[in-house]
Amino acid sequence: MNDPHDERIILASRAIAKSQNPCCFSGAGLSAPSGVGTFRDPGDGWWSRHDPMKLASPDGFAEDPELVMKWYAARRIQMAHAQPNAGHLALACRPDIIQITQNTDDLLKRAGCDRLIQLHGDITSDRCHGNCGHVEHVDMSNPSLNRYCPACSVWGMRPTVTWFGESLPTAAWALAEEATLNCDLMLVVGTSAVVYPAAALIELASRAGATIVIINSESTAATPLADHELIGSAEEILPMLLGSG
Ligand code: APR
Repeated sequence: MNDPHDERIILASRAIAKSQNPCCFSGAGLSAPSGVGTFRDPGDGWWSRHDPMKLASPDGFAEDPELVMKWYAARRIQMAHAQPNAGHLALACRPDIIQITQNTDDLLKRAGCDRLIQLHGDITSDRCHGNCGHVEHVDMSNPSLNRYCPACSVWGMRPTVTWFGESLPTAAWALAEEATLNCDLMLVVGTSAVVYPAAALIELASRAGATIVIINSESTAATPLADHELIGSAEEILPMLLGSG
């Protein structure tokens, strides 16, 4: 869908223009055009080639911390070469839109979005696995691997991201829930909508009466909640919807 005169684009744009309190809930598909891997795309999604429990869980880290940190190093180097795409930039042109993202990359931040809630954390830093509170920024183009915490000497610094089996950051979840309940329109961009509790925000917004506008390269678990569903690439559709295309 790349025709700005497509009836579906026009209707969704009108709904967005009427919205007084929009928010955006995004996933890996927003960053995919920047060359950042998604998780569940058949063939090249990370989880179509690796077991998430071995790479993105506390048990996986305990079992093989070297494998986990090497995987994060590969993703960090991939992200270091990535630039915000037209989808990120279109969202950044709308500071009224609160950004609730599952993405741990810094592309929305680098695009200029500062009303940003990262539900699954931030891959650009590591924290002490011993929970002493030490956090350090990571050089994404030359990421460190396994090492002792410089503050408490416990073995194991790990990415400041939420792994499977871990709770979401309390403050981020509270802000995301509040933004969801207060919004009158939710853009749902580039997410398979299968990971909870994050995906529950779509249903929460819909039940609270918000208009749901889905932008995704295929239909997803959230499709039944859509008032508007635009199938295509977020980097093409968002600029048309938000008036920067
Ligand atoms: N434009 C729009 N949508 C796209 C694009 C694109 N250019 N490319 C891919 N997509 C869609 C895919 O079709 C898919 O539906 O984006 C979605 C990405 O889904 P996932 O790979 O499951 O990623 P996401 O929904 O963000 O995963 C949620 O799962 O593994 C955990 O913590 C991880 O935050 C992640 C969470």
